[in-house]
Amino acid sequence: MSLDFYDAELRAHHEHLRAAYAISPGDQVVDIGCGTGLTTREAARAAAPGRVVGVDVSEAMLERARQLTAAERLDNVRYEFDDAQVHRFDPAAFDVAISRFGTMFFSDPIAAFANIAAALRPEARLLLLVWQRREHNQWARAIDTALGDAARPPPPGADPFSLGDAEATARILERAGFDAIRFEDVHEPVLYGRDLDAALAFVRGFQNVSAALASLSDGEAARTVERLRETLAAHYSDERGVVLDSHSWLITARRRRYEVDNMRPGPG
Ligand SMILES: C[S@@+](CC[C@H](N)C(=O)[O-])C[C@H]1O[C@@H](n2cnc3c(N)ncnc32)[C@H](O)[C@@H]1O
Repeated sequence: MSLDFYDAELRAHHEHLRAAYAISPGDQVVDIGCGTGLTTREAARAAAPGRVVGVDVSEAMLERARQLTAAERLDNVRYEFDDAQVHRFDPAAFDVAISRFGTMFFSDPIAAFANIAAALRPEARLLLLVWQRREHNQWARAIDTALGDAARPPPPGADPFSLGDAEATARILERAGFDAIRFEDVHEPVLYGRDLDAALAFVRGFQNVSAALASLSDGEAARTVERLRETLAAHYSDERGVVLDSHSWLITARRRRYEVDNMRPGPG
């Protein structure tokens, strides 16, 4: 995946998360699946002198995140290379957990969100951006149509739409220890830029697209790439470049207080 291209693609969705952060100076923040750390750095600026921890399973992403963080001379950020589902966070250490499209790939989402809940102090806030269901995302449908028979369902743990069903996701978060769970429909475009070749290269880097192309003969792969190019070209305008429609959820929730309540002595 082209790293900085990704930030440009998600600009419009990102603004909704940014508007909702409400991070205060002194807050301790954790960024789940922080990638190259745009959100981590934003949180660090808002939280200083509080500290921010970014967690990710990709060392390549974290390498870039560290470079960008050093370039901005932010000294209140730490990056951890680990799976957030099982990472040993300090218990009840954080006031806010954020994630921009970094929580859809857990093999056991209840266990993962329970692990994140345990890292949050009671009533700490959770803010997530996740994709809504595939059928509400034109970009995904258009790419699948171009892939034709080579399109495959994502392997377990690699489905970007795994949290797209609001009711199912609310149940996951409740069972993991969150309450006050709200979903805001973020209806914004994904922006693939004005350069059609760069947009095509970016889309070819999507895991499902590269896997589909790798499964084809050279001739079939070339024809499929041509269909992908035509799809992107059909969504191009001089004013905005390549733009496709999309919906994400901005999910907000609070860590429940129950562990604290359970520690009180019961009657008798
Ligand atoms: C779509 S990218 C988003 C990256 C970043 N949040 C951003 O918006 O630029 C998803 C990220 O989640 C990370 N990720 C996936 N599963 C993870 C896990 N179990 N624990 C930590 N990070 C994970 C990936 O390595 C990737 O960097």
